[in-house]
Amino acid sequence: MRSLSDKDNPCRLVVLISGSGTNLQAIIDRCEDGEIPARVVGVISNEPCAGGLERSAKAGIQNVVIDHRDYSGRSDFDQALGRRIDDYRPDLVILAGFMRILGNDLVQRYQGRMLNIHPSLLPDYPGLNTHQRALADQMMEHGATVHFVVPQLDAGPIVIQGRIPVHTDDTTETLAQRVHEVEYRIYPQAIRWFAEGRLKLRDDSACLDGYPVRP
Ligand code: GRF
Repeated sequence: MRSLSDKDNPCRLVVLISGSGTNLQAIIDRCEDGEIPARVVGVISNEPCAGGLERSAKAGIQNVVIDHRDYSGRSDFDQALGRRIDDYRPDLVILAGFMRILGNDLVQRYQGRMLNIHPSLLPDYPGLNTHQRALADQMMEHGATVHFVVPQLDAGPIVIQGRIPVHTDDTTETLAQRVHEVEYRIYPQAIRWFAEGRLKLRDDSACLDGYPVRP
């Protein structure tokens, strides 16, 4: 299987963020220590104050803000975003806490080359407030999911999930913290598979080493 990376041409990653960027940090760290044969070539935030911007600057990675409030509508914003993403010539686009819904055109353009991480065991709890909802439902398990991005929100083919038990004394905060720890493990793993050429989107399924992933 052809790897997307070699030593001289590592797989090019663009990471889209809106917030603190702790997943971005985990990805940067794993690229730096060689666990992921890839390089973050650009970080794009729609929020000018996103903490992840400082993280990328500290790591010497170019970043850019495309503030959605500067655009008259979603399609203008998507076009500007798409142009900036293209400028970086990415092999893979990574949504890491990016809090804007992308339009169909943009999603389709990167079909099979765009991943998202969601803080629940999809298909349970798409959307917001996943930890509160899992606690309210007294779920025994919770976790995080990495999936390929498709036009439907939080609905793309699943690549990997990480599970944790929900404790009786868990709060939204403790649960969020443990889910984050899971995310720092599974997102780099999924990116590594992609960079190694082992992970592909085929006929609406995530395939690893040629076989559909069964989460
Ligand atoms: C993560 O929990 C991720 O699952 C969700 O947004 C959060 C981003 O956190 N999509 P961070 O900005 O990476 O710290």
